[in-house]
Amino acid sequence: MIGLTASGGSVSVGFMNRTELGSALEWRYATKKFDPAKVISPEDWSVLEESLRLSPSSYGLQPWRFHVVQNSQIRQQLKVASWNQSQVTDASHYVVIAYQESVGEADIRKFMETTAMIRGVDVGSLERYRMLIEGDLLTGMRSKEISTWSQRQTYIAMGFVMLAAALLKIDSCPMEGIEADEYDRILGLKGTGFKTVAGVALGYRHAEDKYALSKKVRYPASEIIRYL
Ligand SMILES: Cc1cc2nc3c(=O)[nH]c(=O)nc-3n(C[C@H](O)[C@H](O)[C@H](O)COP(=O)(O)O)c2cc1C
Repeated sequence: MIGLTASGGSVSVGFMNRTELGSALEWRYATKKFDPAKVISPEDWSVLEESLRLSPSSYGLQPWRFHVVQNSQIRQQLKVASWNQSQVTDASHYVVIAYQESVGEADIRKFMETTAMIRGVDVGSLERYRMLIEGDLLTGMRSKEISTWSQRQTYIAMGFVMLAAALLKIDSCPMEGIEADEYDRILGLKGTGFKTVAGVALGYRHAEDKYALSKKVRYPASEIIRYL
């Protein structure tokens, strides 16, 4: 059994030692109050952008779009559609995650062509894979819940960017307390095939955010993790 506390120590063959990773996981919290004066550097931001782009998705189809809202007027409108949560306007960066409502033949073909190009293989060699995906997503069981399937993928990206941020000592807050329909209207998503699922605020905690000191409320591993 391997765990952060079970194996202990700070020696590691990974990208960082266990203590550092454990500290980052503990340090991260859903930031309620961001310091509007602190801005994520362009260098850090480009890594966070990569964490979104490199997130895994089912079959690799990437059924998402990430809107980085920089315009302060649009941010203000989004805040109103987010129960007036201040993170929307005060965080350095605000990302609205949108999912693709439905996946079609053209999307799967585009993905196959991109794969063939990047990996330098003939697109014909991917034919079986294409048919497998189509059989699952377009005609199989999954076709009935494609919008749910698509939304699930986006939450992986949300987790990725929050962990990446924590490792850079950048704060974040996942935001589901939003009126997604109103977001779609404000961002002009209607009719694009993409719909808002959630937001993620990224930046630096305000010195007065009392939540930074709150103890984490988590059930014990013995209750939620089962070894078989
Ligand atoms: C999908 C999702 C949506 C959330 N939406 C909000 C939100 O709209 N506003 C907010 O302040 N916190 C939001 N949270 C933060 C959770 O309340 C928080 O992660 C949880 O209480 C655990 O606390 P911690 O993240 O500080 O450890 C959301 C979390 C998740 C995972």
